[in-house]
Amino acid sequence: MELGIEGRVALVAGGGRGLGRAIALTLAREGVDVAVLARTASEVEAVAAEVRALGRRAVALACDATDSDALGHALDRVRSTLSDPTILVLSQAAIYEPRKLQFVEADEVRRLLDTDLLSAVELCRRCLPAMMDARFGRIVALGSVAAHAGVSGGTLYSAAKAALEGMVRGLAVDYSRRGITANVVSVSFADTERLSGRVQGDQEWRDKLVRATATRQIPAPAEIADVVTFLCSPRAAAVTGTVVEATAGGHLNNLW
Ligand SMILES: NC(=O)c1ccc[n+]([C@@H]2O[C@H](COP(=O)([O-])OP(=O)(O)OC[C@H]3O[C@@H](n4cnc5c(N)ncnc54)[C@H](OP(=O)(O)O)[C@@H]3O)[C@@H](O)[C@H]2O)c1
Repeated sequence: MELGIEGRVALVAGGGRGLGRAIALTLAREGVDVAVLARTASEVEAVAAEVRALGRRAVALACDATDSDALGHALDRVRSTLSDPTILVLSQAAIYEPRKLQFVEADEVRRLLDTDLLSAVELCRRCLPAMMDARFGRIVALGSVAAHAGVSGGTLYSAAKAALEGMVRGLAVDYSRRGITANVVSVSFADTERLSGRVQGDQEWRDKLVRATATRQIPAPAEIADVVTFLCSPRAAAVTGTVVEATAGGHLNNLW
């Protein structure tokens, strides 16, 4: 199936590694030019170089997505080097530090919600006007089973992920008639560096994660990236305001 996505411009927030990197590269393979945004300059530059090696244009944006002014400058750079992005992937919202709420300091609450929720809101807010002008837009936020399942020590992470689902429903109602769709792709676990960092040779824990899937296979980042890329394409025009469970069936059990 032709996705019809070639020549479009995507901004992948959190594109420096993990799922965001896989998504940036899959989009590039489908002919999309990609702006790669994260804080670590060496990582965004490396991914931008990989995008260029695939024959597409890229811009590396070393930027903290919680800094609204910095985001404004980063978007100016995307506009001047590529053009306005009409595809926005939100893969930056990744702070998950398991701790019961009474042990979380007030400034940590703010840092987590700034990263895992408010940066996504701000990116949407800044990208929507150009999507409206283009009468085409695709917003895909990476979510988590934690939005529905209670996860011990993950109160704020769950709250942020549930709010992202509410955000895409609201966006869908307000913007879909302008050709702009908004969806969450929800993940339980994916085989990223982040996961290997947490498993750290603990085979028992890894086995438990495998058993938590229905497929008995932890999804590879490229598999999640395929789902996201489809939703970013014109072919997915009928899908908006939804949560797509790319969990290998992991959302069906209550192991969390
Ligand atoms: N991997 C999983 O198993 C899994 C499971 C459920 C949900 N998810 C969701 O999927 C998304 C991606 O997860 P991942 O595993 O790929 O995470 P990851 O490997 O930790 O990557 C996160 C990316 O976001 C960037 N980032 C973090 N804070 C940022 C900030 N303030 N401003 C700009 N960029 C920032 C990071 O780069 P810098 O640190 O350099 O900024 C990095 O490029 C997250 O929303 C996560 O909650 C993942």
